[in-house]
Amino acid sequence: MRLLFLGDMVGRIGRDIVFAKLPGLIETHKLDFVIVNGENAAAGFGITEKIFLQTLEAGADVVTTGNHVFDQKEALGFATRQDRFLRPANFPKGTPGRGANLYEARNGARVLVSNIMGTVFMHPSLDDPFQAAERELDACPMGAGADVVVIDFHAEATSEKQCFGHFVDGKVSLVVGTHTHIPTADHQILPGGTAYMSDAGMCGDYDSSLGMDKEEPLNRFLKKVPKGRMEPASGPATMCGVCIEVDEITGLASKIAPLRLGGRLSQVLPDFW
Ligand SMILES: [Fe+2]
Ligand SMILES: [Fe+2]
Repeated sequence: MRLLFLGDMVGRIGRDIVFAKLPGLIETHKLDFVIVNGENAAAGFGITEKIFLQTLEAGADVVTTGNHVFDQKEALGFATRQDRFLRPANFPKGTPGRGANLYEARNGARVLVSNIMGTVFMHPSLDDPFQAAERELDACPMGAGADVVVIDFHAEATSEKQCFGHFVDGKVSLVVGTHTHIPTADHQILPGGTAYMSDAGMCGDYDSSLGMDKEEPLNRFLKKVPKGRMEPASGPATMCGVCIEVDEITGLASKIAPLRLGGRLSQVLPDFW
């Protein structure tokens, strides 16, 4: 089966390109399952329920998040109500919402999606991400409870991301990093059959600092004193993500390739599409 994961949508232009292009991609390339990271969808900070629902309407099966999940306070409410919305699984006990859930793909396969956050250069007080993965996979192992397993590993350090990929190699279909907003070129199938990419990149304007208008972030590096608000950049967006082919009998991946469409980055679609 064919699965697409899109990295952090940043602001209006990030949303617009996903909403404009995703329905056609699903139809043309017969995508069985789509996951979109939405943690920066609302003006760069968090996501509203309206935007979450629009993302589903565009064809996403699941919206994952990360450290910005509750920047829009309404997410504390709909995170519990909306079972296609995920926040990091290793947040403290009692946090609204869920960190993993099982979904049915268009081809009937059962897909477990989990959102887990790294701790290096992030929030050191979060539960251990490796133990969180073990817990989720014990509760719903690939080959038993789920046919296919995808983990959005929302983390800063590539060392932690790689080690996490090795830790679950053979036990999940795809580990894809998010959070840095910059796509990496290390997409590969790990020895055990897990597809891996350190970061999917963002869906946003790359003439920016991580999707935000570059003036204020640059000012903060130069002067150390904030001058204004961080606002999403508004130039043409590149939609960035990763696509895999996965055998729903074994759960293991056979192919992985990046996707980049629109905007300033070099354009690429999987050669197996
Ligand atoms: Fe992000
Ligand atoms: Fe993040």
